[in-house]
Amino acid sequence: MLVILAATVLILGLSLAPWGPGGRAAAADKKLVVGFSQVGAESAWRTAETKSVKAEAKKRGVELKFSDARNNQQNQINALRAFITMGVDAIILAPVVETGWEPVLKEAKRAKIPVVLVDRGIKVSDDSLYVTLIASDFVEEGRMAAKWMAKKTAAKARIVELQGTPGSAPAIDRKKGFGEGIAKHPDMKIIASQSGDFRRAKGKEVMEAFLKAHGKNIDAVYAHNDDMAIGAIQAIEEAGLKAGADIVVVSIDGVKGAFEAMVAGKLNFTVECNPLLGPAAFDAVQGALAGKTLPKKIVVEDQVFCQCVAKELIDGRQY
Ligand code: AHR
Repeated sequence: MLVILAATVLILGLSLAPWGPGGRAAAADKKLVVGFSQVGAESAWRTAETKSVKAEAKKRGVELKFSDARNNQQNQINALRAFITMGVDAIILAPVVETGWEPVLKEAKRAKIPVVLVDRGIKVSDDSLYVTLIASDFVEEGRMAAKWMAKKTAAKARIVELQGTPGSAPAIDRKKGFGEGIAKHPDMKIIASQSGDFRRAKGKEVMEAFLKAHGKNIDAVYAHNDDMAIGAIQAIEEAGLKAGADIVVVSIDGVKGAFEAMVAGKLNFTVECNPLLGPAAFDAVQGALAGKTLPKKIVVEDQVFCQCVAKELIDGRQY
């Protein structure tokens, strides 16, 4: 009986989720209210993502309750609880770190509020606590960065790594992917690795410390995002070295600042991580509220860019 019910539900494109037709959003023909808990404003990428979500809400006539967590998980949990108390129709969450979400997501589920994850994944024992995750493949991004660095350095490099925010999905996965990518090259070694928290100023500070400790023994920088790479470039130049030549610099995001640095010959390569997630996020919100079954992960397609194409493409970049 249960099997027949589940099959019927699938065929009709319905879900057994607590939201959907007949749920809170369908109760009235009112304006949709959506809460968006954003990580913060640590990078140009993040600012572009915020803009994309806000613009899409406006375009669709959705009332958006926006909360900037300033990179703090407790602020995000508090924001989610405030959204639940307000009785929003749905929540979009860009989670700062992977763990610690179960209690608040259970509260959202009990209140029949669907939660759509954007950009970063989480670890939960019950994946019915969220509708879907819309994100890039961060492990693959790390692999692509390693692949290109191997090409550029003839697979011989002493590398310093600027990691993202500790405990965040992109920091964990980009480290993993890069590690896998260089594992097949015995002469590529990470000689120092530290978090720069996805921030330009912190990236510079950590790079200064790396340069002090390892000096001319650094052949390459792998930064988990463009902002930290740009900070590292500043540190390299202040140390009297040529970024992009004396030290190869590879990063992830593909923001405009990275293109400028590539045009100037200071950044060698960037792997794109598309932040324009607003349209997909609201498609998922509206799909969930209409009772549709969505895949648990919607992977965003990214590209890779080298210095060789930067000049030609820079004007067309949207973020
Ligand atoms: O989660 C995506 C990452 O977070 C971006 O690469 C980085 O720039 C941001 O802060």
